[in-house]
Amino acid sequence: MNKFITFEGVDGAGKSTHLAWFADALRQRGGEVIVTREPGGTPLGEQLREMLLNQPMSIGTEALLMFAARLEHVEQVIKPALAAGKWVISDRFSDASFAYQGGGRGMDWEKLRQLEQWVHADLQPDLTLFFDVPVEVARLRLANNVSLDRFEQEQDAFFERVRAGYHRRVAENPQRYAVIDAAQTLAAVQQQLVAIIESI
Ligand code: TMP
Repeated sequence: MNKFITFEGVDGAGKSTHLAWFADALRQRGGEVIVTREPGGTPLGEQLREMLLNQPMSIGTEALLMFAARLEHVEQVIKPALAAGKWVISDRFSDASFAYQGGGRGMDWEKLRQLEQWVHADLQPDLTLFFDVPVEVARLRLANNVSLDRFEQEQDAFFERVRAGYHRRVAENPQRYAVIDAAQTLAAVQQQLVAIIESI
């Protein structure tokens, strides 16, 4: 059976590299796989992404735009693909709003829950791979980037709160998550991914 799988982690955790590898591994098993991302995933969502990553805005606006992009994404892309029997792998989903807007920016958790209920009450990922890494390791990896967006420019304390936000989400619903020790080498992380692929 096809599934909806999301990848999460602080900036610099390495999830995007692993996502491409994971999608290929699933395809080799014969599944039809679509890879998408948030914020983004639709033409409107990509325009919202551009604003979200570059333009200063209030916390509430940031959260609402994340969920507005998500609503388009859920309705236009994720649900139709799942209904057509495809695997959907999304680079981030609502856990990122809880971690970044809730944990990082301090937005009320209950308000975010209401938005989540509004936008996708009937849909949750079947599995979320959370790439967990100490903030100092993530920071070193980000140092290779030529330019940093509005989130990546935040201080370490912000990313500590984001990481704590992710841990809170995992604690609330542990059976949905595979927590991956992303501080390990690429090969060691891939070993963990192989075991996950074999289990789904
Ligand atoms: P990316 O760099 O992994 O593509 O993600 C873009 C940034 O957007 C990343 O710094 C996390 C942030 N983000 C949020 O703050 N809230 C959200 O709901 C999502 C999906 C992403």
